Amino acid sequence: MELNLGESDADPQKDSRPGYRPDVRKRDARLVVLKFGSSLLKTDACPHKAVHEVYRHVRQGRKVLAVVSARQGETDALYAEAGALSDGQKSRHLPRLLRLGELRSAASLALALERVGVSAAAVDPHEIDFRAEGDEDDARPVSCDAARLRAKLERNDVVVAAGFVALDAEDELVLLGRGGTDYSAVFLGEALNAGKVRLIKDVDGVYDGDPAEKPGKDSRPYARLDWKGAERIGGRVVQGKALAYAAEKDVPLEVGGPGLRYETQIAAGARSVVQSCQPRKLKVALAGCGVVGGGVYASLKRQSELFEVSKVLVRDVSRERICDIPEDLLTDDHSDPAFASADVLVETMGGLDEAGSLIETALVRGQDVVTANKALVARRAETLDAACKAGGSNLKYSAAVGGGTPVIERLDAALEAGRIVTAIEGVANGTCNFILDEMETGVSLEDAIAAAQEAGYAEADPSADIDGWDAAAKMAILARRAFGADISPEAASRDSLRSVTVDHLRFLKARKLRLRQVGRCAIEGSRFSLSVSLSPVSVDSFLARPRGAENCFRIVFADGSEENVFGLGAGRWPTAEAVVADLLDLHRLRAQNPVKEV
Ligand code: NAP
Ligand code: HSE
Repeated sequence: MELNLGESDADPQKDSRPGYRPDVRKRDARLVVLKFGSSLLKTDACPHKAVHEVYRHVRQGRKVLAVVSARQGETDALYAEAGALSDGQKSRHLPRLLRLGELRSAASLALALERVGVSAAAVDPHEIDFRAEGDEDDARPVSCDAARLRAKLERNDVVVAAGFVALDAEDELVLLGRGGTDYSAVFLGEALNAGKVRLIKDVDGVYDGDPAEKPGKDSRPYARLDWKGAERIGGRVVQGKALAYAAEKDVPLEVGGPGLRYETQIAAGARSVVQSCQPRKLKVALAGCGVVGGGVYASLKRQSELFEVSKVLVRDVSRERICDIPEDLLTDDHSDPAFASADVLVETMGGLDEAGSLIETALVRGQDVVTANKALVARRAETLDAACKAGGSNLKYSAAVGGGTPVIERLDAALEAGRIVTAIEGVANGTCNFILDEMETGVSLEDAIAAAQEAGYAEADPSADIDGWDAAAKMAILARRAFGADISPEAASRDSLRSVTVDHLRFLKARKLRLRQVGRCAIEGSRFSLSVSLSPVSVDSFLARPRGAENCFRIVFADGSEENVFGLGAGRWPTAEAVVADLLDLHRLRAQNPVKEV
């Protein structure tokens, strides 16, 4: 329960409901502006934390405008550099130097997003004609080319924009004052009519005192703040001019941290506080530390404030690994006691029996499990469901289908919205797509398989990829979710890549066709179908769009409409991103301690 603190700036004559605004225009809930502050961009590891936050929204089907500050300390350093060169005098060239911090952050975030397969464009302020007027180091935004931004958001899931800088009427660069990236985010959010602007800091909201000064229960985060309260209290956290502009335009603001459950909503209406809810770390036992597990380990290590890896199970403890793992964390003992005491088991070892036994034991014990193992999830679905019920635990497997392509989340969202799915088809295996692209350029099947293994795309036995088993397992998982179909991958009709030749692909290419391994599951009346076929498709078609290890899925609905999902389907970082996103969801779920009345 939240406690209403009164002092609302809503008009009580009209309606006393918190947040009631009769004349407010409908905002686009599918678009969110995320502003990453310098405290969140401290080190080389930080763009990755920003990636997790962006990916969380993308996988829920939102478009994201990410507006970034310079890294912590960088703006001060640039001010000092400029001051030394200009003898501390005001200069119209100052913004030219100062903007470097934001431009660098934007480029870093775009690079880090690309690595996990999120389609992102980066824009500099002049590319969206972002204009401001006033003092060169304390200007106020006045316009931007919102149509251009929208067009970029149409083509990409994410647009990354450098904050803090704009152009004046004479095309000179100007700054929006200290903390001006908040202003950039709010202004662009308003121009795009975004559903909300989320200002991401290193705290889980605006506190009624400084958490550093009043640690523990004396300091409480606000669940909601009205504009007046935000001006008085939130001004410490949000730039004053940005806050005033948001209040004037009624732009809903959220102040929160990455990966944390709670945040402060700032909008018209009542004010309320919650108990401080800094969640405890999740203790994670990791089974498997190869391509995917190694990426997961590296990512959890970067988020040591949220996760603690308590054990890492591998086959050979003496093997050299890409991530630097302390020796005492490694074990080859499947019954290591650390597995019984973890909060969550992350399974990235693959295989059916040993992985299955570890997962079932954990679920029955009441531990949550995250796995990337599609072969297992597709073939043991009922046993795993029963284990979840027995232990009251959660099994999450986003990475099992599509790697970093969030097809499961989009499908679930559509089903939750009451939409009826009749078919799903797509390119579900990155290895085969990569191999077909390689062979089109003249590489032999054997060499292309070796290259896919080298890149970390292929299954332990690549026959699973090239003979269609892997795609069949993924489509069976989707069929179960979409139609409740109890269908095994063995029921799928499958074509094998073994029959494909370089000449065949060249012949198709000359006719503007591309061979694709297409997975399909469908329901007609009470009959389910499942297939993995090799199909020539037009080079301009949706199914031809994935290149290399990319995947695509088309969800077809009973009303004839479709939803397309696209992303990187295999490889360390996209797959690890999906595993980590599941873990962050579990973290948030566990942080839902009852909100106490105060
Ligand atoms: P991988 O590189 O071969 O890694 C497997 C890891 O599991 C290794 O660390 C290995 O130990 C360990 N392991 C295997 N069998 C074990 C056993 N019996 N006992 C203890 N440890 C064992 O495989 P991967 O590519 O990361 O794939 C892992 C899982 O993710 C599979 O289920 C796969 O289908 C799925 N997946 C992979 C991708 C991808 O792009 N690679 C994408 C989505 C899903 P050693 O290191 O000592 O050998
Ligand atoms: N081998 C699989 C593929 C890994 O190439 O698609 C991702 O599931």
